[in-house]
Amino acid sequence: MPNIIIANWKMNLTNTAVESYCKSIDSIPQAENIEIIIAPSYIHLPYLQKKLLQRPDIKLAAQDCSGFTEGAYTGDISANMLKEFGCTHAIIGHSERRIHYNENEELLAAKLDCVKIAGLRPIYCVGEDFETRHNNSVLQKLRHQLRDVGLNRLKSTNAIIAYEPIWSIGTGLVPTAEQIQEVAAFIDDMLPGQSILYGGSVNPDNANHISSLPHLSGLLIGKASTNIDQFSQIIKTML
Ligand code: PGA
Repeated sequence: MPNIIIANWKMNLTNTAVESYCKSIDSIPQAENIEIIIAPSYIHLPYLQKKLLQRPDIKLAAQDCSGFTEGAYTGDISANMLKEFGCTHAIIGHSERRIHYNENEELLAAKLDCVKIAGLRPIYCVGEDFETRHNNSVLQKLRHQLRDVGLNRLKSTNAIIAYEPIWSIGTGLVPTAEQIQEVAAFIDDMLPGQSILYGGSVNPDNANHISSLPHLSGLLIGKASTNIDQFSQIIKTML
């Protein structure tokens, strides 16, 4: 199985910045053993879809999708629409969606179903907040986040599971190797064979060490992925 590296741009990069990123797209190394996926804002998908014709090895993901297949849902974007604009993957349940938009497991299960119907592969995010880490109830929390959307649903969609501790996202704090390994082994036990990624303050200095931990198949990168030099460096460390 190739390693998977996902760039989650979140609500960053203006049109001009995306154009300049794409001008240097060839600085992203091509590697047979690494699947590279970029998740831009919805609005930049058509532009990237066109630009990536010259780099068919780089895939596109949406950062989210609707929990409805179609209809009167103002502001929503359906999984089918995302597919039309070249997405092969969709991030579901990122902690920023869970926190700022109150997305719960019932809604996330509906989103996973929509993603499945459209034939996309979900990247399902789980992770604990600082308090949960402090109380030693991390595994309990993750068990809920996985079970409450349905383990069979995650298996049947061939979901990639991204472990992203909330206290690590954008903070520069990274769990110890033992902490990451404990969680990765736990997820692997619940969902044997599914790809497991780590995300949270990954940078060119720690990427190789983290991605080579047992049970992990790659990384989900936020801030560092918005800078093409840093993103390319991260991939280089994994070649
Ligand atoms: P970060 O974000 O790399 O900026 O910490 C990771 C993520 O939220 O996917």
